[in-house]
Amino acid sequence: MLIKRPADIKPSEITPESIYRNRRQFLGASSTLMLGAALGGTSPLMAQDARGDQLKARAPAGLTRSEPAAWWGDKFDNIQPAPDAEPFFTDETLTPYDDVTAYNNFYEFGMDKGDPKRNSGEFNVDPWSVEIAGEVDKPGTYNLEDIVSPHQLEERIYRLRCVEAWSMVIPWIGIPLADILKRFEPNSNARFVEFETLVDEDTMPGVRSRFAIIDWPYREGLRMDEAMNPLAFMAVGLYGDYLPSQNGAPMRLVVPWKYGFKSIKSIVKINFLREQPINSWNELQPQEYGFYANVNPNVHHPRWRQDTERRLPQTLFSQNRIRTQMFNGYGEQVAHLYEGMDLSRYY
Ligand code: MTE
Repeated sequence: MLIKRPADIKPSEITPESIYRNRRQFLGASSTLMLGAALGGTSPLMAQDARGDQLKARAPAGLTRSEPAAWWGDKFDNIQPAPDAEPFFTDETLTPYDDVTAYNNFYEFGMDKGDPKRNSGEFNVDPWSVEIAGEVDKPGTYNLEDIVSPHQLEERIYRLRCVEAWSMVIPWIGIPLADILKRFEPNSNARFVEFETLVDEDTMPGVRSRFAIIDWPYREGLRMDEAMNPLAFMAVGLYGDYLPSQNGAPMRLVVPWKYGFKSIKSIVKINFLREQPINSWNELQPQEYGFYANVNPNVHHPRWRQDTERRLPQTLFSQNRIRTQMFNGYGEQVAHLYEGMDLSRYY
């Protein structure tokens, strides 16, 4: 396979200046304090640790995980913390790390919520490359390292609302999707962008299963203006740490105003298109799952009412049920994208 390096673009040309300035201050302020913060399942608190940073949330101490690729270097030591205000932050209680990483939908590893964690032990994300295709001036196959390395990692605390009417609050680590996409220079024909997940029979038991319902690869898509919205995020980590396999390592989409199925995991292809692509769930059940999939309490799914949701973790005694908000509470940032559209038709 041909592996190309992206053309020599300075990060400052593609990353908003504010982020760059912030990063400088932040690197300059590095401290040697040893406070060993371990914050999981609590309200977001400031965590100052050996790295001297101010991330809102960190994975529990003593977490055992496989060694990440060396090329990440100190990237995870220099993450820009989430701001204190919506939309890139919410002060709602964080879903504990153990729930975020053990209650998953990732059908490539099985259909039960515990399957992705249980069955992803063999999954290998190093090396990883991503094919860039379609209506772009810089198509090719790029190493993940080359895609990620020019960017400052950022923390974002978002609500995640699944179409199955459960939800979480997750502190992601990643890069604004627009900053990544722009580097490949989509041309004026690019009206949509499509994403594909890896298909690997050897390490993904759900893919080789005779009972699989999805026609692999798992595919998702966005309109270009949706993809360029500042909320759309390419995550490479959560809780200040690398993305676990079950959450879509090494790189997955996070589109917080849409149902979780749009947030495709373990991406190996990004295709810029003139026409609207087919997404996996829409292909499977078009009456149940649309292309847009905006969180909408007024349009119900045949099996799940959408006006309330179970905020995880629920307990034996409480479902922890809350009201669902239009666009998952991100209307101020995204409602304009759908002006004049009948959202009960374009569900
Ligand atoms: N991506 C792939 N490749 N395969 C999947 O089965 N499930 C989607 C989405 N991305 C899925 C996927 C669904 S239905 C949801 S709700 C979210 O991932 C769940 O993300 P999480 O497991 O990190 O909470």
